[in-house]
Amino acid sequence: MPRTQFLGTGLALPDRVVTNAELSQVMDTTDEWIRVRTGIEERRWAREGETGAALGHAAAIQALDAAGVTSGELDAIVYATSTPDHFAPGNGVYLQKLLGAGTIPAIDIRMQCSGFIYALSVADAWIRSGTYRKILVVGQEIQSTGMDVSTRGRNTAVIFADGAGAVVLGPTDDPSRGILSFDLHSEGAHAELLWVDVPGSMYHPRISEELVHAGRHFLQMDGKEVFRHASTRMPESVRAALASAGCASGDLSLLIPHQANLRISEMVAKALALRPDQVYNNIQRYGNTTAATIPICLDECVRAGRIKPGDLLALTAFGSGFTWGSCVVRW
Ligand code: UT7
Repeated sequence: MPRTQFLGTGLALPDRVVTNAELSQVMDTTDEWIRVRTGIEERRWAREGETGAALGHAAAIQALDAAGVTSGELDAIVYATSTPDHFAPGNGVYLQKLLGAGTIPAIDIRMQCSGFIYALSVADAWIRSGTYRKILVVGQEIQSTGMDVSTRGRNTAVIFADGAGAVVLGPTDDPSRGILSFDLHSEGAHAELLWVDVPGSMYHPRISEELVHAGRHFLQMDGKEVFRHASTRMPESVRAALASAGCASGDLSLLIPHQANLRISEMVAKALALRPDQVYNNIQRYGNTTAATIPICLDECVRAGRIKPGDLLALTAFGSGFTWGSCVVRW
């Protein structure tokens, strides 16, 4: 059975930079509070009319270029987002249309912050089984249009942001390279600790002035509980994925944790006894872009030479659902 290897990476971010100082003008917060509690210095928010599919497309073009693969050579698209441009259909088909990629399957994965890890696992299974050969995997979010940008929503509005990352995957017969293992979990008992209630088909109509007035369309989070679970589940999951791959945390060249909060990343690194140079973070510049954080980090690391052939890499994420998981790769 072939293994799955990464052929190319890409990223796209809105050009609108939103600083902590700008947020402190519209809500009761400070640059110091945001930096100390989250590590974030600035983030990117989409301009009016800028769509998620367009961001995904820009990231995909870069990844295809880096891989030396044309959109016509793709066999499938796996698109991770919790913030699609429309209730239905998902962003995968809009990306397929923008790429002019032929009538290939394009599926959406709705696993929030863990979306990219789950998307990789689907693509990996398709490649290893020989179902498809060249697969584009995208993680993309527009969170800025669904947040309460006021003091009432300050625990989420200062954290979440917009962006996209993409990778092109393909099979390799080299037994020393590629995706080695996954570890995937969910725990629906905590679904409402981090969620977006509306629009929802349990409401008739799915969205109304009353629901909007009550703020039910905004992202809601119990930050303390999410923090507590995220900082224990991610290291637990990295250990499990490493064990499945027959490796240990000391073997890691680099850990890319989902960019939820810099303090969470530091706790994950500490729990795994990793040195600072073994962990990559960019939340300082981009905030938490949900399913996009890991592929954005991956692209930055590849282009900066922080990931080299032969490196052992772990990717890990935790988020709404709760859902969490990890992936171990020999680059
Ligand atoms: O992507 C995965 C999902 N997301 C996460 O993993 C995020 C996890 N959670 C967190 O990152 C943190 O819980 C937060 C950054 C959201 C909050 O940090 P915290 O240290 O847990 O603060 P807290 O919720 O205990 O709140 C402390 C105080 C509260 O005021 P009182 O009740 O003590 O008077 C909050 O109202 O800080 C207040 N607060 C703020 N103050 C200034 C909450 N947000 C803000 C804010 N600016 N933006």
